[in-house]
Amino acid sequence: MNKISILLLCCILSVFVLNAQSKTKWLGAGKAVDPYNYTQVKHEFYNNAAVSCAHPLASLIGAQIMKQGGNAFDAGIAVQLALAVVYPAAGNIGGGGFLIAKKANNSFLAIDYREVAPGNSSKNMYLDKEGNAQLELSQNGRLASGVPGTIAGLFATLPSAKLDFKLLIQPAIDLAAFGYVITEREASSLNANQKSFLKYNNTKIAFVKDQIWKAGDTLFQPELANTLIRIQQNGAKGFYEGETAKLIVNEMNKGNGIISLTDLKNYKAKFRKPLSFKYNGYSIYGFPPPSSGGIILLQMMKMVEKTSQIQKGFQTPEATQIMIEAERRAYADRAEHLGDPDFWKVPIKTMSSDTYLAKRMSDFIPGKASKSAEIKAGDIKESEETTHISIYDKQGNMVSITTTLNGGYGSKTVVAGAGFLLNNEMDDFSVKPGVANMFGAVGGEANAIQPGKRMLSSMCPVIVTKNGKPAIVVGTPGGTTIPTSVYQALVNSINFGMNIDDAINKPKFHHQHLPDEVFIEPNFPAELKNSLQTMGYKLTNRASIGKTEMIFIHKNKIEVAADRRGDDSVAGF
Ligand code: GLY
Repeated sequence: MNKISILLLCCILSVFVLNAQSKTKWLGAGKAVDPYNYTQVKHEFYNNAAVSCAHPLASLIGAQIMKQGGNAFDAGIAVQLALAVVYPAAGNIGGGGFLIAKKANNSFLAIDYREVAPGNSSKNMYLDKEGNAQLELSQNGRLASGVPGTIAGLFATLPSAKLDFKLLIQPAIDLAAFGYVITEREASSLNANQKSFLKYNNTKIAFVKDQIWKAGDTLFQPELANTLIRIQQNGAKGFYEGETAKLIVNEMNKGNGIISLTDLKNYKAKFRKPLSFKYNGYSIYGFPPPSSGGIILLQMMKMVEKTSQIQKGFQTPEATQIMIEAERRAYADRAEHLGDPDFWKVPIKTMSSDTYLAKRMSDFIPGKASKSAEIKAGDIKESEETTHISIYDKQGNMVSITTTLNGGYGSKTVVAGAGFLLNNEMDDFSVKPGVANMFGAVGGEANAIQPGKRMLSSMCPVIVTKNGKPAIVVGTPGGTTIPTSVYQALVNSINFGMNIDDAINKPKFHHQHLPDEVFIEPNFPAELKNSLQTMGYKLTNRASIGKTEMIFIHKNKIEVAADRRGDDSVAGF
């Protein structure tokens, strides 16, 4: 390289660095949000506002937006967009989600921006000629994607926010264009997925590089930055119409994908009525169908609320057993009765009635495991990479958002030229009655594929009030384990009096009716394992259950905790 080339290269690099520094300043007035140098905060107390989510940069951006005069809804929009850049395994613009909120004026909001089945989908689209389920097709690549809902969800949220959308999306644009430094965990997750990325993409994508990823590398996503700029300039149409929509359909046409321009143009977010119930003096607000999260949570909590066993306390065999049996029964109902309420009559009233729930527990035998083969759904004529955001602001707005691509990195297919991953949410439908999806969940007619229908979800964003006042914001990723994680975090806090750091981090257990076994996390106490095995439970070790983000609103302070199982982090002021 001669002297002139070296000089030219230095000039280009210094312009880049200067530009990056000025953008970094925008992200957080000086060093408040520095994408090249950040740390995790797991448990903190603040006076004004708090955010907990899967990535420190996204939490910091949420807090910064609220410092700049935005409310929890502004923060919710900015954090979701930031996660779409810094947490590509689950943060997304190519997926969908649910937002549940209580506004400072005491009104409630539940926004459903779940993906829908494309117009050309059909009930048996994942079956071969012999009728065998082809799960490779429902779980990977272009045909696995439902029509994305996230951008419609952000614009349905915007009327509740205060700041200009252009401002809320700018941090995500900066992070995509100027890069951010990845953590050890992110590097190893990207490395673990290199083969899949190569298999399900036929153009070069930002997540693939020749050498292995290492902690401290910078990830740049220029195509994603351009897509975000189109959304900044054109609103939802910057995604569902024009250049981005064409790029999505081009990606479909490269293989077996079926999402059309019409599917994209017709996508609508829906407003739902939160599903609420009382529990030990608290009012709990969960998400109704097409999520199974709220109703499963209601069933599990109501099945244990008045029992003597729950009074025995945390990690006692009695309390643990009754919680497992409530999980078993609620998940049996999920498989049979739940689906998109716009396509299937979901018997919510019966499923939530005290009489029905008492009857469901009438065959519970203390000290003896029930058998899933004998516990069917109630007789009345829903890699686990999702991500959750909990936010509270000083005006009193509570915002709880769970959003997903379904599996880690969704379909593993990136829209060429647009730089974002598409979901593999079609696998959340029942592709064939009785055939387990990637989470081991089975289903039937209620959750069969139909064009325009939303696939059943387990996502369970929750807000809780006490005497009408804000009390708790909570939620988690984890596929079918989502409702059980939220259930255990709430019971740990409400019944067992734990602080929220313990409430979300103590070892969890999960039973989903089928398979008939209890999944337990590492550090589950040996003595409790023995007691449960003596009662007849089959215990299966698994790595981790959920990554729960929880806020507890005390009289004079806001307590916020981020799960210690990931890079999750809190921020506030
Ligand atoms: N895709 C995970 C869920 O919605 O439950």
